[in-house]
Amino acid sequence: MVEQRVPFIAGNWKMQQDHLQAIALVQKLAWTLKDADHDFEAVEVSVFPPFTDLRSVQTIVDADKYSIRYGSQDISEHDAGAFTGEISGAFLAKLGASYAIVGHSERREHHGETDATIGRKAAAAVRHGVVPVICVGETAEDLEQHGASAVPVQQLRDILAEVPAGDFVVAYEPVWAIGSGKAATPEQAQQVAEALRKTIAEVRDDEAAESTRILYGGSVKSANIAGFMREPDIDGALVGGASLDANEFAGIVRYRSHVGV
Ligand code: 13P
Repeated sequence: MVEQRVPFIAGNWKMQQDHLQAIALVQKLAWTLKDADHDFEAVEVSVFPPFTDLRSVQTIVDADKYSIRYGSQDISEHDAGAFTGEISGAFLAKLGASYAIVGHSERREHHGETDATIGRKAAAAVRHGVVPVICVGETAEDLEQHGASAVPVQQLRDILAEVPAGDFVVAYEPVWAIGSGKAATPEQAQQVAEALRKTIAEVRDDEAAESTRILYGGSVKSANIAGFMREPDIDGALVGGASLDANEFAGIVRYRSHVGV
């Protein structure tokens, strides 16, 4: 990764951990990182708990002055009104959420989200001062038919078409690598991250391309994170399963202490 971009390790808990478990997990993570003298300015850390946990996470982070940030796993494209079950970016901003994941492949698959919807959700986040973490990634079929970068590049192009100027993070998550134990190789992930950065330069400008953080996601563990972080266009990771274990997640956050980095 390039030094001007602060590395970012993000934990997507998915539909796991109730609010009491969330408090315990955030505390354990904070203590583990404190014991290791982690420098949060050098490597940013964020967790993405279920909506019902966010207030509890905010309370513990504020009370104990943790440097861990937090965000939501989804956001409504609307600001307020008759949208049963939806959560507004205004509410997330009030809760101190720094980020909102948009377009995770599980939402594309199970909730029929399209790039247009995802773009409107990212736009809603930007409107409320919440930074969207825009997820893109190809399926195993896409990979076979179009190669690795064509589908994620098109997804990002279509999503950004809906989003006004503002900061965002991109998470490249090949669908075949999620929860499979079969991560992409660092070279493969770098190739796509580079193509995504070029897309940002085309759709926005060089400055946006240089400053936007691009994460890799899909079976990231403490044992393989260092390889990804050595790549010039990969600035961090969006971690699923391994983020539910405080020690393992702290090991990912502390990738710089691994041998050979
Ligand atoms: P895993 O790390 O469990 O493969 O999940 C990745 C993911 O989907 C993060 O958003």
